[in-house]
Amino acid sequence: THQWRGIIEEYRDRLPVSDTTPVVTLREGGTPLVPAQVLSERTGCEVHLKVEGANPTGSFKDRGMTMAISKAKEEGAKAVICASTGNTSASAAAYGVRAGMVSAVLVPQGKIALGKMGQALVHGAKILQVDGNFDDCLTLARALSENYPVALVNSVNPVRIEGQKTAAFEIVDMLGDAPDIHVLPVGNAGNITAYWKGYKEYAADGIAGRTPRMWGFQASGSAPIVRGEVVKDPSTIATAIRIGNPASWNLALAARDESGGAIDEVTDREILRAYRLLASQEGVFVEPASAASVAGLLKAAEQGKVDPGQRIVCTVTGNGLKDPDWAVAGAPQPVTVPVDAATAAERLGLV
Ligand code: F0G
Repeated sequence: THQWRGIIEEYRDRLPVSDTTPVVTLREGGTPLVPAQVLSERTGCEVHLKVEGANPTGSFKDRGMTMAISKAKEEGAKAVICASTGNTSASAAAYGVRAGMVSAVLVPQGKIALGKMGQALVHGAKILQVDGNFDDCLTLARALSENYPVALVNSVNPVRIEGQKTAAFEIVDMLGDAPDIHVLPVGNAGNITAYWKGYKEYAADGIAGRTPRMWGFQASGSAPIVRGEVVKDPSTIATAIRIGNPASWNLALAARDESGGAIDEVTDREILRAYRLLASQEGVFVEPASAASVAGLLKAAEQGKVDPGQRIVCTVTGNGLKDPDWAVAGAPQPVTVPVDAATAAERLGLV
């Protein structure tokens, strides 16, 4: 019997590991590439969703974390640290357990989704809520890793990018070539950097015949790259991408410009509309930040910027269960019925 072995074993020859690297894995990657029928109809294109919420801890971070924790272990680290809006901390906590290492996580006070906090807690991470935003957390994490015996596993660590680039490999392996356009939500800008690196590597080696245009979308209240300046007090309901000073800012600009792509913004309202569309019409439940990619595609289509007939992949980065408040809010309360088939049938509209 065979199962997916995790991104390090599946793509070993394209990653900076050796025979002696201890592989710390939860068999991340190998995520579904799901044809999106409604989005395809709306755009006149062939749209696919790369469903990264299907990773072991429910987000794309696991691809980078298997690399970061394996390399930290190889280098003899006993503890790792990260700043996080929630998903990185959940992933670091889980992979830390696998590696027998202490995971320290710094999160912005009151601004991370409950599911993500629950993950860090249940995996036994050392959590500090910082009186500040994500950017403050990252400043603090960097200072601690420079001055104390603890390895930084944020995406400023280049091996994180190496792990995350494997998502682009999977897409090309599945489709037979790169898509015309790849759409992503952008926060700290590590992931758009990673995909672009992956696509470029496959094209350079002739495995793909082309590279896609990279389209990134930030939330309007947290759109420093779009504005061209740091956002001091970023805001958005998409807490995962509530970031005002992305660490990989210049690399995101390079991905945009080298690919002939774009980085634009979507409002919280547009994000929530895409979030509900994905769940109610495509059957894919994602967290709000993930819906920013799809919101961006729909916005671009409405603006006439999407030529029909193209092949488009949208990455949806995290599982909807991470932040279920948005699923429940505004939805009608289910009615209560007695244990009676006739009543239940009536309430279900079956009669
Ligand atoms: N989507 C989700 C669900 C995320 O958690 C993140 C980032 C992004 C998109 C943006 O990716 O930062 O590489 O541009 N989350 C980080 C965290 C910041 O701490 O979990 P990016």
